[in-house]
Amino acid sequence: MDILDGKKIVLGVCGSIAAYKVAQLARDLTLAGAQVDVIMTEAATRFVGAATFQALTGRPVLGDMWALPENGAVGHVALGARADVVVVAPATANRIARIAAGMSDDLLTTTILATRAPVLLAPAMNPQMYASPATVANVATLRGRGYTVLEPDEGRMAEHVVGKGRMPEPHTLEGAIRALLGRSGPLGGYHVVITAGGTHEPIDPVRYIGNRSSGQMGYALAARARDLGARVTLISGPTAITPPVAVTLVRVETALEMQSALADAVADADMLIMNAAVADFRPIEAAEQKIKKRGDAGLTLHLVPNPDLVAGLADRREFFKVGFAAETNDLLANAQGKLERKGLDMIVANDAVLSIGQPEIALTLIDRGGVASLPQQPKATAAAALLDQIVARFQRWLLH
Ligand code: CTP
Repeated sequence: MDILDGKKIVLGVCGSIAAYKVAQLARDLTLAGAQVDVIMTEAATRFVGAATFQALTGRPVLGDMWALPENGAVGHVALGARADVVVVAPATANRIARIAAGMSDDLLTTTILATRAPVLLAPAMNPQMYASPATVANVATLRGRGYTVLEPDEGRMAEHVVGKGRMPEPHTLEGAIRALLGRSGPLGGYHVVITAGGTHEPIDPVRYIGNRSSGQMGYALAARARDLGARVTLISGPTAITPPVAVTLVRVETALEMQSALADAVADADMLIMNAAVADFRPIEAAEQKIKKRGDAGLTLHLVPNPDLVAGLADRREFFKVGFAAETNDLLANAQGKLERKGLDMIVANDAVLSIGQPEIALTLIDRGGVASLPQQPKATAAAALLDQIVARFQRWLLH
């Protein structure tokens, strides 16, 4: 189930041109199953119409504290009290100052003052205003109070100024909201390290030995682990996929680089999900210059074995280890052999021929308790279902 499903999100929209981007966020959150209550400030309505948010969320847009559906004294605090998260986007300099000062002079400030839910602010303003001592102090106050204040992006602003002050894109806001909601999830407080993609082993400055791993599964596992509350380190081989928001991304190229990134990341890990397709061999050395054709002569590459990264961590018993096995034959026997040989707590096997380049995948899960399977399904839902299965086994492992 999507972490956003059934969640109550209060979305405070303030008066900045970036308000138009928040319409997309309201739509994405609603489509993911959240109940989104939009509060628009007076100034916000000068940039985007309330009808836009009403249509996208399917709920009345709120603004005037004195015209709430729930009338009377409780009405103005009810929204904050029942929210799972309160988001202010775009958060203007004026709004940040008023929240920092603890004011409650309109519905949005009152809601924030009255809520116990996590609060997320996405500043958007002119770069000079963002850098002003007053705003810097206000942001520090809010962070000190436990609020999450996102860093604005750098770039060209609406009024053609270039600098730091642009509101992050809707998918970044959504990722930050997911991470906040996940805090109370089953992986809350745990550090999960995930490797993804294939490695590139250089032959010369322009060529490499690689494999067909796309990284999709590892990236989807990372997003799901974040949604369930984990602090995620994603160690990724080269890929073009957009990384999930609110995970620490470490980009590597070769197996040896992945080995050293892993050594750093697992120092305080609770779980390692070794999804990367690590090249088993690398050229003994990469040529410094591009290798040239020499008539009809062929080229022989001398390959040496790469270390087995996860097997090298076999004696590290302080974190839960999950490996993968894509096999073309003897799936169960081969995967079981790897589980033992590599000192894993669990291995996820699949048929390489049936799954590479295909939209769907069926998975076989093996641990010392037995064998289970996940039916063939689209890779995105398979990743979420797999992570839930991993979490269930991790929780059992913690008890031992
Ligand atoms: N793995 C690893 N280091 C390597 C190779 C593989 O850590 N050098 C990990 C993979 O990330 C995966 C598991 O080991 O979790 C199994 O990978 P696989 O390529 O199936 O195993 P190999 O030991 O390379 O076996 P094979 O002979 O089938 O290639």
